[in-house]
Amino acid sequence: MTMSTADPRIDWLALERLRDGFLRGTAGQGDYWKDETDLASYDATFAQRIGWKWDFVLEDLRRRGWTPPEGELVDFGCGSGIAARAYIDQFGTKEATSVRFVDRSALAMSFAARRASQRFPGINVVTGAAAPEAPAAMVLLSHVLTELDPIDTERLVARLRTAAAVIWVEPGTYEASLALIAVREKLRDVFQPVAPCIHGKRCGILATGNEAHWCHHFARPPGGVFTDPFWGRFANLLGIDLRSLPLSYLVLDRRPPPAPDEGVVRVLGRPRINKADLRVLACDGDGVAQQSIFKRDDPESFRAAKKDRFASLQKWTRSEGRIREARPWPTT
Ligand SMILES: C[S@@+](CC[C@H](N)C(=O)[O-])C[C@H]1O[C@@H](n2cnc3c(N)ncnc32)[C@H](O)[C@@H]1O
Repeated sequence: MTMSTADPRIDWLALERLRDGFLRGTAGQGDYWKDETDLASYDATFAQRIGWKWDFVLEDLRRRGWTPPEGELVDFGCGSGIAARAYIDQFGTKEATSVRFVDRSALAMSFAARRASQRFPGINVVTGAAAPEAPAAMVLLSHVLTELDPIDTERLVARLRTAAAVIWVEPGTYEASLALIAVREKLRDVFQPVAPCIHGKRCGILATGNEAHWCHHFARPPGGVFTDPFWGRFANLLGIDLRSLPLSYLVLDRRPPPAPDEGVVRVLGRPRINKADLRVLACDGDGVAQQSIFKRDDPESFRAAKKDRFASLQKWTRSEGRIREARPWPTT
């Protein structure tokens, strides 16, 4: 995903209004896209940051050998359409018979459709909800959960039962994570959890004792962002920390995912760095638990954690009950 550059059409006041609605939780109350400039301003800023989260998720899927299912590609609650563009950037359109943008805002749908057509000339773009009997689709959802009321969410989840696969990315908050876990549990009879999960059992976060934890991860912005005056202005005006890109996500597929190697774990959040050990919250088929990696056993992991390069998926080698080596997995 390319980085945004200075755009003369950025309406900073509109961005402040949008951000306030997102933060206050009032965004679900009604259509907030007033005009094209709102969408263009959002697309060059907030949506780019969301795109970096999508890149994190999609690169993780690609590394694990996941491939797109055939059928329509649907971006639900599309806004400016960043999710579909990030997905097509990563996986192309070979499997997508068409790309459908769905939103309560007609303005958003036409903006997203136009941007996608400009970016990927020749793709078959449509807008609006598909007919209920439409064939299974690859459904993308991004930062929409907090705008749906419980009835909308129920309807949406029921509709997702007919999808071929689902990729859903939300902010890395406690509430968003727990809401996505609830969706996972409701749809686990139809789909295989593919990511961040590395097993198909009940989510370990739901186990007694794990109430304080949530399933979240951190994406990284492209390096140039921190020295780019445009992003500096964005951060200053909107009070946003450019380094912080927490996300929660869920990938479900009807097809069984490639099995992880023995010893593979998913790291949740960031490790806590102590003097002698890293405290890591990790998930595998046995559940979610805090584990220690001692500096004397694995100094390389220590260095990675200090540089904020601690891999989200890791293969752990243990002996005598201790983790002796933690390495990014898969290695390619
Ligand atoms: C925060 S924006 C996210 C846009 C885009 N998915 C992204 O990640 O950048 C949420 C979008 O969901 C749309 N939305 C809210 N409620 C909706 C509903 N009930 N049905 C369809 N779209 C909805 C809004 O109009 C808005 O475009």
